[in-house]
Amino acid sequence: EKGGYDYFMLKEIAEQPKAVADTLLGRIDASGALSLDEVRIPVAELREVDKVVIVACGTAFHAGLIAKYAIEHWTRIPCEVELASEFRYRDPILDARTLVIAISQSGETMDTLMALRHAREQGARVLAVCNTNGSTIPRESDAVLYTHAGPEVAVASTKAFLTQLVACYLVALYLGQVRGTKWGDEIQAVVRDLSRISCEVERVLETMEPVRELARSLASKNTVLFLGRHVGYPVALEGALKLKELAYMHAEGFAAGELKHGPIALIEEDLPVVVVVPSPRGRSVLHDKIVSNIQEIRARGARTIVIAEEGDETVVPYADHLIRIPATPTLLQPLVATVPLQVFACELATARGNEVDQPRNLAKSVTVE
Ligand code: F6R
Repeated sequence: EKGGYDYFMLKEIAEQPKAVADTLLGRIDASGALSLDEVRIPVAELREVDKVVIVACGTAFHAGLIAKYAIEHWTRIPCEVELASEFRYRDPILDARTLVIAISQSGETMDTLMALRHAREQGARVLAVCNTNGSTIPRESDAVLYTHAGPEVAVASTKAFLTQLVACYLVALYLGQVRGTKWGDEIQAVVRDLSRISCEVERVLETMEPVRELARSLASKNTVLFLGRHVGYPVALEGALKLKELAYMHAEGFAAGELKHGPIALIEEDLPVVVVVPSPRGRSVLHDKIVSNIQEIRARGARTIVIAEEGDETVVPYADHLIRIPATPTLLQPLVATVPLQVFACELATARGNEVDQPRNLAKSVTVE
């Protein structure tokens, strides 16, 4: 049932191109327009939405953090993302024009369920992004957009995460489409890129041997830091979470711009720091800033592990290890940048003799608050 792989996690990492393609299937028509009639929220209502609030836990929360960038950019609707476990305790401001998106692989996470119940009591519309047909969260939501990752068995979420991203991009692009923002042309272009992205994920998977080798060489380390900016920041958080849960290592993700406000004090000789570098095309300011961050940490002894787009030569002098990913539009980069981090964590866990599919103290679905 592991299809020849040693672990479900490895199988599920390998299934990501298909999971991504399946989640897109039937949702983009031949003309490149998005059709999400299946969510059954009337277009008139979507045009009225004046705030989006995303609630989720763990890895699904990281998908939500990335979704915020996409939603705000393509729709110009303000979007908040909140840990489901914190949400209802702060008495959030919600009404009929608020669209709440509850993201959950299992559809059974108790905190997410309680958050969506609270949102509905306040009159908000709830859209579930969920991987499990007929589970509690979609049943209790107003609408659902299913991710088509197939069953995810390993406790650490991989393919579900990528499909959550795809689903969130679809929602963001769809909202942009029905509301007609000034980004119409960009939306068209991104839809085209999105429909090709599963091949890019496949290409990343084909080049993972050096990442595994690197992971094995770091098996005796205690700490790994992750840095990113913009959508690379949640990717850094996700990379750190994977490492905590699988390798039981101290791992932290930071927004690279925060370095000088504290975390840079952690940098010491030979400390591995993974840096997610945004595309040098497009929003190049971000790129330049992160290149200086890499220089700063390297000058203080960090061992830099740089994830950068193919063809980006500016990072080469500052990368102790360079992991290449295909060029994508900035907002879609998490779909390719996360994959090496999953492989990295999985291989480190194996090298440290940990149980990959069933990390200690964790359960696949957290049905208590
Ligand atoms: C991490 C992981 C967890 C889940 C979280 C939410 O790899 O799997 O952080 O993402 O427990 O679970 P769902 O998506 O089922 O609500």
